[in-house]
Amino acid sequence: MLSAIGLPALLIVAGLIWRYASQRQSLPCPVWLRWLVEMDNPFTRTNRAAVILQHLRLQPGMTVLDIGCGPGRLTLPCARAVGTTGRVLALDIQAGMLQRTRDKARHAGLTNIDFIEADITAAALPPNQADRALLVTVLGEVPDRPAALRAVHAALKPGGLLSVTEIIFDPHFQRRSSVLREATAAGFRQAGFFGNAIAYTLHLEKAESIPVS
Ligand SMILES: C[S@@+](CC[C@H](N)C(=O)[O-])C[C@H]1O[C@@H](n2cnc3c(N)ncnc32)[C@H](O)[C@@H]1O
Repeated sequence: MLSAIGLPALLIVAGLIWRYASQRQSLPCPVWLRWLVEMDNPFTRTNRAAVILQHLRLQPGMTVLDIGCGPGRLTLPCARAVGTTGRVLALDIQAGMLQRTRDKARHAGLTNIDFIEADITAAALPPNQADRALLVTVLGEVPDRPAALRAVHAALKPGGLLSVTEIIFDPHFQRRSSVLREATAAGFRQAGFFGNAIAYTLHLEKAESIPVS
């Protein structure tokens, strides 16, 4: 039988192995683990849907792109905030995640959400249409992050805002410095930062032109 020390030690080792494997291979969060995503994070305030939304300052009529929407933790509050004159494009690579969001939206009576099953790096998104884009604990699951950031940049209106949230407990955690470096190369500039090294939300504004490197 595992001792009181043995079990926590085993869990820590398992967690470290999972994290190491996740950093080496960018795999999407499995659909069967969606309940973990839906918990709205008991560990830090930064990653809570309400906090992320508060920073976004959504207005009725806006178009929001929720990339890697998962089970809709942010999709539904965004849809409520932009109202019937606005739209949310909920995009995910996994049909099971989209189905969960669709079911929740139907149950909530929300009709202003479009569902897109696609890889963000290959999605055919309407250019220059979105006022806001969200990447909440998604970037680390995308193997080609520069391509993902370029796709988001193209989909945003000039002056539009991308909100990236990362939390260190996520095995795919991305450091602020690497997100900022890759985002700058894609044509974004930093417009805000909330949180700390453990959990943060970085706001990136679509600059008018891509910097020449
Ligand atoms: C950890 S979940 C986060 C879900 C949601 N953003 C939230 O915070 O509640 C990451 C989601 O990103 C999706 N994802 C991973 N790679 C993707 C890609 N290349 N394109 C679109 N979605 C992707 C996964 O399927 C998963 O639903």
